[in-house]
Amino acid sequence: MSPLWALLALGCLRLCSGVNLQPQLASVTFATNNPTLSTVALEKPLCMFDSTAALSGPYEIYLYVLVDSASSRNASVQDNTKAPLSSTFRQTEGGRTGPYKASAFDLTPCSDLPSLDAVGDVSRASEILNAYLVRVGDNGTCLSDPNFQGLCNPPLSAATEYRFKYVLVNMSTGLVQDQTLWSDPIRTNRLTPYLAIDTWPGRRSGGMIVITSILGSLPFFLLLGFVGAIVLSLVDMGGSDGETTHDSQITQEAVPKSLGTSEPSYTSVNRGPALDRAEVFASKLQD
Ligand SMILES: *[C@@H]1O[C@H](CO)[C@@H](O)[C@H](O)[C@H]1NC(C)=O
Ligand SMILES: *[C@@H]1O[C@H](CO)[C@@H](O)[C@H](O)[C@H]1NC(C)=O
Ligand SMILES: *[C@@H]1O[C@H](CO)[C@@H](O)[C@H](O)[C@H]1NC(C)=O
Repeated sequence: MSPLWALLALGCLRLCSGVNLQPQLASVTFATNNPTLSTVALEKPLCMFDSTAALSGPYEIYLYVLVDSASSRNASVQDNTKAPLSSTFRQTEGGRTGPYKASAFDLTPCSDLPSLDAVGDVSRASEILNAYLVRVGDNGTCLSDPNFQGLCNPPLSAATEYRFKYVLVNMSTGLVQDQTLWSDPIRTNRLTPYLAIDTWPGRRSGGMIVITSILGSLPFFLLLGFVGAIVLSLVDMGGSDGETTHDSQITQEAVPKSLGTSEPSYTSVNRGPALDRAEVFASKLQD
């Protein structure tokens, strides 16, 4: 049994046991750097709704998205008749005023999950990942059409906490059959100064920048010292001793000061997370 299978089996145990289940963030084995600025990859609710018996008849899973807030902790996704809400991203201001439906999909039955052995075949990797994962926020097509009525799954806001819920909808009745709990809050990534500014591939170290900035500012301090010396020699005409001591004091104070002020600002620029990569690394599956 490969480590990946062990991981999936664990995931299934976590999802398959108990009744009060929550959507989970996709494993790093599948999706690196998740969440990104605008997407969240979740594990599909495999073996959740059909853990005890196979589902009969036509059904779909709906995924609802909600911005986390105190008043929305257990918002309902169905109306009085148990019909699932059809509110869209636009109607709910991106999940701020209520849950919106972001995705609808069929599930592979628990007993019939696609074999990961076939993932070595690169042409099948995305199909197989698709069976295991759903990515919220990965399709902004609908935003370009103001009259778009269908399912809309546009990019999420950065640095925002979202909750997610899966709902099992019986397509022959059109009603909610079952549902998970709301997930714990999941925060999208924050745009850091590093992501915005630094494009040099060989990320500079903080120390290197401090040295560069000190070297860059040395001529300035030498000039300052020189001007200071001239001023002092004009003010204090008494003897050459005083002149040299004042000169060296100014240069010695100036350099440590530049160390203290330039270091924090430059290192914070460099301390961002690695560049956002939304891709799922299929190659990681091959072991
Ligand atoms: C959907 O509803 C029908 C009629 O009530 C029922 O027979 C069927 O088992 C339901 N399907 C699921 C997946 O629960
Ligand atoms: C939210 O939860 C509280 C207590 O847990 C419950 O009384 C209330 O009915 C719930 N609201 C909804 C909309 O489910
Ligand atoms: C994106 O959404 C549009 C409309 O909702 C749909 O037609 C299109 O197939 C979707 N694209 C992808 C890559 O899922």
